[in-house]
Order: sequence, then C-alpha cells, then structure tokens
Amino acid sequence: MQKSSFKKIVLCAALMLSGAVHTQAAGPVRIIPQPVQMEEREGTYVLPEKIVIGYESALQAQAKYLQELLVQSTGRMATLKEGKAKGDIVLRTDSTSLKAEGYTLSVTPKRIEITGADVNGAFYGIQSMLQLFPAEIYNQRWQQQVAWEAPCVEISDAPERPWRGMMIDVARYFYDKEFIKKYIDMMAMYKFNKLQFHLIDDSGWRLEIKKYPRLTEVGAWAGPDEKRLGGFYTQDEVREMVEYGKVRGVELIPEVEFPAHILSAVVAYPWLSCTGLQHELPTQHFISRDLLCAGKETTLQFLQDVLEETAELFPSAYINIGGDEAVYTRWESCPHCQAVMKREGLSKASELQGYLTNKVAEMMKKKNRTLIGWDEIIQRGKLNDQVVALTWRNLNDTIKATKTGHKSILTPASHMYLDFPEDRIPGEVQAATWRPPISVEKCYSMPVNDYSESSTVIGVQACLWSDQFIHGTALQEITPLNENRSENYVEYLSFPRMLAVSEVAWCKQSKRNYEDFRNRLGTHFARLDNKGCNYRLPTPRIEKEEKTTDGKVTFTLACDVPGADIRYTTNGRYPTVHSAKYTGPVTLDNREDLRAITVVSNVRYSLPLYFAPDYSAYKAFGEHVFGWEPLRIQSKPANWRFEVTGKVSGNGTYELTVIPTRGDKEVVLGTLKLWKRKELMAEVSANKTIKTGGQPATYRFTLNAFEAGTPFHIELEASAPNGNNTTGMIFLRKVD
Ligand code: ACM
Ligand code: ZN
Repeated sequence: MQKSSFKKIVLCAALMLSGAVHTQAAGPVRIIPQPVQMEEREGTYVLPEKIVIGYESALQAQAKYLQELLVQSTGRMATLKEGKAKGDIVLRTDSTSLKAEGYTLSVTPKRIEITGADVNGAFYGIQSMLQLFPAEIYNQRWQQQVAWEAPCVEISDAPERPWRGMMIDVARYFYDKEFIKKYIDMMAMYKFNKLQFHLIDDSGWRLEIKKYPRLTEVGAWAGPDEKRLGGFYTQDEVREMVEYGKVRGVELIPEVEFPAHILSAVVAYPWLSCTGLQHELPTQHFISRDLLCAGKETTLQFLQDVLEETAELFPSAYINIGGDEAVYTRWESCPHCQAVMKREGLSKASELQGYLTNKVAEMMKKKNRTLIGWDEIIQRGKLNDQVVALTWRNLNDTIKATKTGHKSILTPASHMYLDFPEDRIPGEVQAATWRPPISVEKCYSMPVNDYSESSTVIGVQACLWSDQFIHGTALQEITPLNENRSENYVEYLSFPRMLAVSEVAWCKQSKRNYEDFRNRLGTHFARLDNKGCNYRLPTPRIEKEEKTTDGKVTFTLACDVPGADIRYTTNGRYPTVHSAKYTGPVTLDNREDLRAITVVSNVRYSLPLYFAPDYSAYKAFGEHVFGWEPLRIQSKPANWRFEVTGKVSGNGTYELTVIPTRGDKEVVLGTLKLWKRKELMAEVSANKTIKTGGQPATYRFTLNAFEAGTPFHIELEASAPNGNNTTGMIFLRKVD
C-alpha cells in the first residue's frame, strides 16, 4: 500500500469515529461568567482540519496562546496569519464602540470573529469561544474522537467592574512558579484580571530583593535545616510570571506587607524591629507582635529600597502594602517610635501606621503607582493621598471609604475567603474554621453595587489564604510524601467557587440568578477535569422532601452535574460508587438515614448529602461545641478537648453550658481551660455534678487576646464515677 492511501484510510477512520460522538458537540451554551448579550443562532461551526488564525499585530501573543491550545487538544494544524481580514478564526480590536475589556464574538457556520475593545477584550472573546467547544478543548493532550464543533452565536459582552481579583497566599505556603502559572490560567479562563500576590508574611519572604539578600537566604525558610520548608521567586521567575499573566489579561500585584505580618524580614534583619531581638520563622499559624519600627530612618530606607525593586519587577499600576492586623504594643514602648509620634503630633501609636503609609505613598507616587492595602490602612490616621482599601472585615467599611475619598474592593471574609470550606459535612477538607463555611450559593450571593465611573467600589476579589490548611494541620506532616497536597487543596478550595466569584465580579447584580448559574456550572466540571484542575463536586441536592401519611419521608433528589449518577443508602451508611443508583424518589423511615453522593467516575465522587443535627431547641445557649456519649466519659476525671475556633469570635465574656440529655448517671465536672493554640487564655475552677433532667452546668470566662484565624480549644475536666450511662451536649455563647 502506498503511504498516501494508508494515510487516507486512517483519516477516514478518524472521521468516522469522530462522527460517532456527535452528541458531545454543540450543546447548549453555558458560559461563565454570563455574557451581557447573547443570541443563539441556527447552525454550527465545524473546526477545519487546518485552522488559520488571523490576527492583528497587537494580538500576536493571544493568537499564539490560542494556536497552542487548539493544536494540543484537537491535534489539528493551526497556523497564524497576521492581518485582520482573513482566517477561520479572526482576532482584532476596535476600541470605538466597545466598553473597556469588552468584546464581540460572532460564530457562524463559516467563521469565528472576535473583536476586542482592547487586548484583554479580545482574550475574553477567545475564552467565551472556548466555552462553546466541547470540554476536551482544554486538554493538554490530543483528544481524538471529539467533534470539534461550536454552536452559532452572536455575543456582545463587557465586564461590569474593572477589578475582578484573586489573592493567593504564597507566604504561608510556597507555591512554585509553575503552579502560579496554572492558577493564572485558571483565572484567565473565567476572566479575572488581577492577582494579588501575598508574597510576605510572618512565616516567609518569597521575593528576591538584591539589596537585602538575607530576606530570601534566611527569611524564606522555616523549620530545622534538614527538613526546612519554604522557597522564593527569583527576579527572573517574577518577570516570567508577570509576562505570563500579561498575555492572559491578569495583572500581578505584589503585596509587601507592613508594619505587621513581616517577621520574616525581622528574622533576616533584626534591626528592622523596635526591640532588635533575634526571632525564628514560625511553622504554625502565628501573627507576630514585632512590627517594623516606625521610628527608625533605616525602616524608611528599607521600605524605599524594597519597594523600588518590587515596582521595577511588577509593572502594575498598584502596589499593595498589606497593613492588616497590627497590634501596636511594641510602638507604644519604643523610644524611636515615641519620638516620631511627638515630632509628628500623633496622639495614638496606631497613627504611626498612617505616617508610614503616607511616606510610602509619597515614594510610590514618584513611580506613578497607587497604594492598595487591607481596610485598616484607611483607618489609622489621616492619609494624604487616595488609596484603595480591600474591605475584608465589614462591608459597612466601604461607607467610611466613600466619606474619606478612597476607593475600595470588596473581599469580605464572610463571602470571599475561599480558605473556608464549603460546608461542615464530615470528611470536608480541613481548612479555616474561624468563621462559618461558605457555600457556592453564599459566595454567589455577595452584594455589590453596579459600577459607574464615580463608584467607590471598583470591584470584587476572593482570597485564598494558606495559613489554616498548611500551618496547624496534619498536612504539614505529610509534605515529605511530596504529593503536592497543598496545591490540590488550593484547587479544591478554589473550584467551583471561583466561578461564582467571576460572575459576581463580571455581571450586574440584577443579572445574577443562582439557579441559572447552577445549571451552567454543572457543565464546567468536565472543563476543569480537562484542565487537570482539582475541584469539589456538589453533593446531590434535595429537590423535594415530603412526609407520607404513614409517617415516612420521601425525597426527590437532583444531580447538578450532567452525566453524573447519584448513588445512595437509606441506612445512614456512607455510600460508595457501587451503592444503589438513584432513579426516582426514595422513601425511608428517618430522614437522617439518607446518604447520597454524586458520582462522576470511580475516582471522582462527592461528599455525602448530610443532615446536620438540629440544635434549634437549644438556641438560647448559643452554638453547639461538643457532645458526649457513654464511650466519651470515664470513671476517673479526664479532659474533654474540643475546638471552639469560630465560636469564640472576639474579646468578651462567654458562657459555656453543659446539658446531659440521656442516661441515669451523674457527670462530675471540674476545671475549664480556654487555649489559644498553646497559650492559656482563661481558667475556671469548679466542681459541679449534673444529671439528666436536672439543672445544666454553666461556666463563665473572659477572653482579652482574641486573634482571628488562630485556633481556640476548650478543655473541660469530666468524669462519671458511678457508671458511664450518660449522653449530653455543650453549647457556647458570647454574653457581652
Ligand atoms: C486578613 O484576613 N488578615 C486580611
Ligand atoms: Zn519602634
């Protein structure tokens, strides 16, 4: 057989095979974030065997991006042709009729045309186009047997808000350059445009600064030498990441934290602090009280040098200076700081932070940069320049920002901190617990006003802190396995919630519709799979729950992931991928006995649908913090130890109530201790005997040194000297 006819046969076979899977292609259009305007048209566009991408010269990098992506997944040939008129896929810009970062996308049976208002707009047109093709388009390997077709559409789209951000904490855990590039890719897929790079914190300095080599020689590494943790980015690596982001419309914004969260620099150069004492880098969540000394000239010089090198590396119009969670006790007793307060006429040590911010704003103004920081920066003395505040604590703070003329970005911990897990289902990923979980729906419900030129709020940002799931959990102990768990964690925590954030940031609030979003979201898990990105699958959803006349309960379930199954049990046991397949309503005696999982494949399945116990009858006693049953109590006094992170929510007085609910044996209670990690915060001695049906026991204690994000535990001494037939619950409430 001649070579060419063999080739033809292979080609025919491939075409026949691809014909067999036509059902995958040209499905309903499910773009995230939802475009402003979209009309679906008759017909489909079929990607040719040889693709020509026409582009205007300003879009060369974006055309190359598209070429690479199409070649690797479709296995077809794609060539680039400069010039905006010709090609199967044409990329161009036209700033005259489109809003900033906007685009039009026209898909007809003949060709695809993308017109961006600017480079970012054209890139977003490419992203919307990719979402029209089968999910395999994102795969890094050649996907055979896929019908590479897209439905015909006319889209006209533009973001509502100029700031659509993510923050990643590389200081508490060092994510290498390749992971950051992957993260940028994921952001780009959903049209985010700002990445706040949390480069510096107490536990690590991640940015090479030539003038201060010890910052990375010493400040980038924690723990004993032989198994030290950490790392840093060289300046060349930073330039590479910045360039990578630029092609994808993602601006990298360096965050150089001060005056707090900077122990890593103080460890490297102890003269930076007020005391000059030598410290060590922490390997657990920890917020150091050692601030940069605001009173020494050397501090200002340090900031100037570091920020100059930083600004040189990051072309962003913004420089983030952190500024959160400073405790000012060191400044209050430092002669240098006190002298500056006197000279500047400042009455509170906290105002020294405003003094430092003004100095740095002045330095950065010369480089045409605007300062951003956590919302504390606008609340610590008078600022001379307009800055941008990241509102993380209280949405009402944006009102303060308006009054003082500053802009703000909404990143409230209540909705936008993706280091909180989605739920409290047993088996949920171990992550931050100092606030309630944040479901996809909660994230999606974030209130934010529509944008205009005069808006105070310029956008929305989600934050991915690493302190809670790196430091302070078992995770750290498994790093020698080198299984990249932390990277998997970040992806698992980011997705799918980042898609909700993208829509909150991109769309007008009035256009948001959670049910519609959920329907679109379902199809994106396959896209994430093809990207090689980890994510949390949604549990089956209860569509209907009805009581039957004979006292049973009937559930109708829904699966939000197209192509996935629901598997379930009715005996309270954890379902497996081989459990009964859900095909219609299920009736059982006790609602709590239903467990159901979403199953995509033998290795991809969700946590089970779970019914949290109902404590509403005990609401007056606060939140449930612990429960005991006979096996949790002994005849001799021993400590119950339980976590109260998140339930302890600030300084003040708390009341703990211990209520036996079943069993005829007495419980003898002794001393209560409240711990902030290993620091004793409160101790109450007591000797109380309680029994089912009698008065509950109460303990009162006061907390004066609350710290957000730090784990709190209670130890309570208990015994059942006359037998362990006792069951009960413990609640905690804040009384003032
Ligand atoms: C923060 O969460 N400390 C900004
Ligand atoms: Zn000082």
